[in-house]
Amino acid sequence: APAFAERTAVTAARLVDVEAGKLRTNAVVVVDGERIVEVRDDGQVPADAKRIDLGDVTFVPGLIDCHVHIAGQSGEFYTNMFRRSAIDRAVFAHVYAKRTLDAGFTTVRNLGSDEFIDVALRNAIDRGDIPGPRIVASGVAIGATGGHADDGTGFSPYLRIEGFSGIADGVDAIRAKVRNDVKYGADVIKFMASAGVLSEEESVGEPQYSQEEMNALVDEAHRWHRKVAAHAHGTEAIKMATKAGVDSIEHGSFLDEEAIKLMKQHGTWLVADVYNDDYILSEFARMNYPASMIEKERKVGRTQRESFRAAVKAGVKIAYGTDAGVYPHGWNAKQFAKMVEWGQTPMQAIQAATVNAATLLGRSDKVGAIKAGLYADLVAVPGNPLEAIGTMEKVGFVMKGGKVEKNEKTAP
Ligand code: ARG
Repeated sequence: APAFAERTAVTAARLVDVEAGKLRTNAVVVVDGERIVEVRDDGQVPADAKRIDLGDVTFVPGLIDCHVHIAGQSGEFYTNMFRRSAIDRAVFAHVYAKRTLDAGFTTVRNLGSDEFIDVALRNAIDRGDIPGPRIVASGVAIGATGGHADDGTGFSPYLRIEGFSGIADGVDAIRAKVRNDVKYGADVIKFMASAGVLSEEESVGEPQYSQEEMNALVDEAHRWHRKVAAHAHGTEAIKMATKAGVDSIEHGSFLDEEAIKLMKQHGTWLVADVYNDDYILSEFARMNYPASMIEKERKVGRTQRESFRAAVKAGVKIAYGTDAGVYPHGWNAKQFAKMVEWGQTPMQAIQAATVNAATLLGRSDKVGAIKAGLYADLVAVPGNPLEAIGTMEKVGFVMKGGKVEKNEKTAP
């Protein structure tokens, strides 16, 4: 930081201390350059600091969404599929990045994008060329031929649709795909352990790789020091991925007692997009999604929420992830209320999106809490989110790396 940098003190009535699990009052967050240097509880602003007083609001650490698809968004199914290319998506991705940041999400983990749009976007944001959240990028998602990562499934073979080009079968091809993702800048590896909803396989949850294939994928990724996120709806696939040593199970729709036990044993995180079902069931028929997909959604929606509740109760580690992109970017915070409806306390839901998410990402030395030494990533919401979790959807102030990205008066 330059020698004459002026320190800034942002002040507010309350602050959610996610590490202590408590609410603090008379909050003063002193920022120097891109880092937090001091957090006070006495309302006192250091003499050399410029003050930004936000008044009767609550500070929360910059939010983290561990499952987004920043380079795309659901729309008319056949338009997205046949009249838009990866280049169209790349051109638009910065708009979604800005909406995500404005919603208070200062870090996201992108789990699968066409080509390496997420890597390019991450780099442009890191250079300061465009506004957006810090991105932990996966590059292309890896999956089996005919599986959830293969967009060609269900279409005429003459179309030769190659999906996200992460298709790989067999141990050697899978290892090569992992290396290819790493080569082009992936921070994390995403793969499809099971079938899915928004793809045309018959099943919604059957395993799509053998145990041997999953083991090899995780082994290869970890050798390159990349964590692994496994898309897994079905019980068997969840267990296989957990045994293979993945770092997080995405969706986790059909958990049984044994799956929960295995996840606890292995320290596997659950990242469950429990808001998604509402949006898919209300909007996807109108957007001409195939009826078979909507049928599959009916099979997972409620079960996923029940699984989530059971996992919370059993003490499985939970990190916040929404699958934003399936529903509109910028709506990322809508899931807080769902997580509370299905078994978490408001504090637990906020921890899932801050300190827990940072731990899953391996970045708790940089983000996920409001404390000295971390990046000055913080947001403010009106009222008290521990009493009314819906207020998380009304982020009025966003600071990322010490820079004010948004500062609006919020309606109480
Ligand atoms: N991307 C996921 C899939 O297609 C979305 C699942 C959404 N549904 C849900 N209930 N979470 O499988």
